[in-house]
Amino acid sequence: MFKKKVSPEKDGIPKQVNSYCVDWLKLTELPQIVRLEAALFPEPLTMASLIRYWLMPITYYIVVRKNNQVVAYIGFQLFGPAAHTISMAVHPDFRRQGLAGLVQSTADRVAANRGARWFTGEVRLSNIPQLKFLEGRGWKQIGVCPRFFQNGEDAIVVWNWL
Ligand SMILES: CC(C)(COP(=O)(O)OP(=O)(O)OC[C@H]1O[C@@H](n2cnc3c(N)ncnc32)[C@H](O)[C@@H]1OP(=O)(O)O)[C@@H](O)C(=O)NCCC(=O)NCCS
Repeated sequence: MFKKKVSPEKDGIPKQVNSYCVDWLKLTELPQIVRLEAALFPEPLTMASLIRYWLMPITYYIVVRKNNQVVAYIGFQLFGPAAHTISMAVHPDFRRQGLAGLVQSTADRVAANRGARWFTGEVRLSNIPQLKFLEGRGWKQIGVCPRFFQNGEDAIVVWNWL
């Protein structure tokens, strides 16, 4: 089961890039997202919270797949002109190959094609890789939200025009 094939020709999804496939997340791949979240994030999405997001019409999940393995993904929501990241990640064995760039570029296109004008998110103060990644794509750090995360860590609020 796929979601949100509203304008597949504009979104260019699915798309083959070398040995990778960029596609909408399939329902059967939700457990892979939950496993990646549990391995990579201090406050991971549970299966219940992921399903809650997944069922909301404003939610979009894009994956990069190699064979049948999800190696990168982004989840985001659309609120009129604003796209907001739920989370994104690349499997540790597949980093520094541009896969985060590939999923973010695809998400930017999907969001813009549906009327979004900007993308926002919150990044842990300690998450230098993500902050560097976004900075390299022209995202701005627009402020600090104290104790945003459950463990008390501050968030850098990040923002980018589409
Ligand atoms: C942050 C993350 C998504 C980057 O994924 P990636 O596929 O390795 O990123 P890319 O290959 O597209 O990197 C593009 C650029 O981002 C920057 N970057 C990526 N990882 C970096 C790191 N560890 N340190 C410094 N800069 C980094 C670099 O400028 C890189 O370009 P370069 O490789 O030519 O130097 C990945 O490290 C990750 O999944 N981290 C854990 C999950 C997470 O923190 N998600 C974000 C919060 S929701």
